[in-house]
Amino acid sequence: NKKGRVFSGARPTGRQHLGNYLGAIKNYVALQDEYNCVYCIVDVHALTTVETTQNLRQNTIEMALDWLAAGIRPEESIVFIQSHVPEVMELHTYLSMVTPLGKLTDLPTFKEKIRLHPNNVNYGLVGYPVLMSADILLYRASAVPVGVDQAPHIEFARETVRSFNFRYNCDVLVEPQMKITQVPKVIGIDGVQKMSKSLDNHIEIAATAEETQKRVMQMVTDPQRQRRSDPGNPDVCNVFSFHKIFSTPEEVEMVNTECRKAGIGCVDCKKMLAKNLNASLAPFRARRAELEKDTDAVWDVLMDGAKRARVIAEETMTDVRQAIGL
Ligand code: ADP
Ligand code: NA
Repeated sequence: NKKGRVFSGARPTGRQHLGNYLGAIKNYVALQDEYNCVYCIVDVHALTTVETTQNLRQNTIEMALDWLAAGIRPEESIVFIQSHVPEVMELHTYLSMVTPLGKLTDLPTFKEKIRLHPNNVNYGLVGYPVLMSADILLYRASAVPVGVDQAPHIEFARETVRSFNFRYNCDVLVEPQMKITQVPKVIGIDGVQKMSKSLDNHIEIAATAEETQKRVMQMVTDPQRQRRSDPGNPDVCNVFSFHKIFSTPEEVEMVNTECRKAGIGCVDCKKMLAKNLNASLAPFRARRAELEKDTDAVWDVLMDGAKRARVIAEETMTDVRQAIGL
């Protein structure tokens, strides 16, 4: 009675922040009601840009804790680590044979990556979209939730399906539908750039109430508002953007009117946001604290996910090998 299978992967980036939560995890949780979901921690993808793997396991477990505490239900959805299903590497190799190199080097995401990692343009980095296609196609996902920036990768995966099925005169691979999710681009506490761990302008969803309050108090507000007596403009204030997500409509309305006539100061406005943010995240944090008590159980969840993922993967690979004639 569900609409089909959804696949999504994210690199193990450790503790998740509000950008990850509002931009991805919240949607992952909601999709479970309509789809059979496969959520993968793509550790092999992480190797394309990571020079040291010393934090890999820690980052993996931290992200898994956040996912589960946020409401990803592992009995119902498949949650696992990419490298635990090595069939994906095999499929990646076969797909690479039907992939023109120029198509990979033309992708805007590749150009961006070589700009960011000019000294580490490895073969795996070029092939990132091929591995991503292998992830999606291995699980025969019917839909892939992505932000607009990832759209070229899904189009690439669709083209790969057509090339493969044409080359081997078969229909074993399934073209995934792009499911463009309208997610907000969450701005960091600097008020300017996209919230991101690497820019250190983030707020971790698993932070303590005190840490959260501290980060909120550091948020940059309307730069035109210098003194308490200056009227502010909520339309250009990132604190206000967060109020719209975490505060009641009445509070949002109050901040909106009072800020414009200097009736409320930035300090009080932020305190109110911190309080609402903490109240909103409290149930998540309580669940996470419970899960943290037994991380072995979380590893077991990921192992069980891999076992279930592998059943699907083996079915696909049997068809794939047969279609190729191996
Ligand atoms: P990945 O490289 O695996 O996509 P990221 O940590 O960059 O890892 O992002 C994980 C997910 O969180 C992605 O779906 C991404 O779009 C989303 N995300 C990250 N930062 C933000 C942000 N500031 N606003 C909205 N969504 C975000
Ligand atoms: Na990203």
